Amino acid sequence: MHKIKVNRKLKEAEGITSFELVSPAGDELPAFTAGAHIDIHIRPGLVRQYSLCNPPGETHRYVIAVLNEPTSRGGSKAMHDSIEEGDLITIGLPRNLFELDGGAEHYLLFAGGIGITPMLAMAHHLYAQGKSFALHYCGRTAARLAFVQQLRHSPFANAVHFHLDDGPTSQRLDLPQLLGTPSPSQQLYICGPTGFMDFVLNEARGRGWHEDALHREYFSAPVTTTAQDPAFEVELRQSQRVIAIPAARTVLEMLLEAGVEVASSCEQGVCGSCLIPVLEGQPDHRDQFLTAQERQANNCFTPCCSRSFSPRLVLDL
Ligand code: FES
Repeated sequence: MHKIKVNRKLKEAEGITSFELVSPAGDELPAFTAGAHIDIHIRPGLVRQYSLCNPPGETHRYVIAVLNEPTSRGGSKAMHDSIEEGDLITIGLPRNLFELDGGAEHYLLFAGGIGITPMLAMAHHLYAQGKSFALHYCGRTAARLAFVQQLRHSPFANAVHFHLDDGPTSQRLDLPQLLGTPSPSQQLYICGPTGFMDFVLNEARGRGWHEDALHREYFSAPVTTTAQDPAFEVELRQSQRVIAIPAARTVLEMLLEAGVEVASSCEQGVCGSCLIPVLEGQPDHRDQFLTAQERQANNCFTPCCSRSFSPRLVLDL
């Protein structure tokens, strides 16, 4: 973790603000790759992840953009209301859980609303690498889309296609046409609201796209633990302990309360930073991070939100 200065705070669209972050001493920042995010420690106990959206070759700044969501659990509102230019804030090192596969011949990038942020960094990177790509940017109306002018004036403007709900029919997202001919040399990357992503991914699957070619990043997820969930226990094989997990409490909470150190970040099953290896038992995967194949393998799970179908889950801890 280190301190960083908010050099610029800018309204990018209705409800969306960008933050340019620089070293307070003017030093170079640790490099990042397209799709990476940083943890922002907004205040004690409130940590949020935001994708870096500036060109990945830049080391003099990080740029993030934040949507002020009325339904947020406090992070986006606090970013909008209480972080100002000149403030010093604490961040973590860039981490990438949404890496671009460098081997494809063509990349299809889909962004829904604020999901543009990792896609913007990817578009910059692919353009710099001379790769073939198309960025499809979807939203309700232009006023709510960030970085429209930047994209229209970018050197890769020809590869950017806007699809607005209130635009003419001719610019609507035509998924059958875009996804109609899957080929092993194409990769699809998508970020946006859950419904939008499911819609695009299901269409791709239905048209024969292989799961390995579908890459997605969820930026929010409903909290899924309820009082109706059955209780179970986790066995920590290495330390030979058994911890009871009651209904309405997460494995992560119970592990931390028991003094077991577990990394975590989003606590919503989105980022993957809490992944724990599973040795026995069947996890009830409720995250949005693991792929279908990874879930089937049953050899790891996200304790921040996932539970267990078996009465006992044995963890490699
Ligand atoms: Fe992010 Fe568990 S903390 S997936």
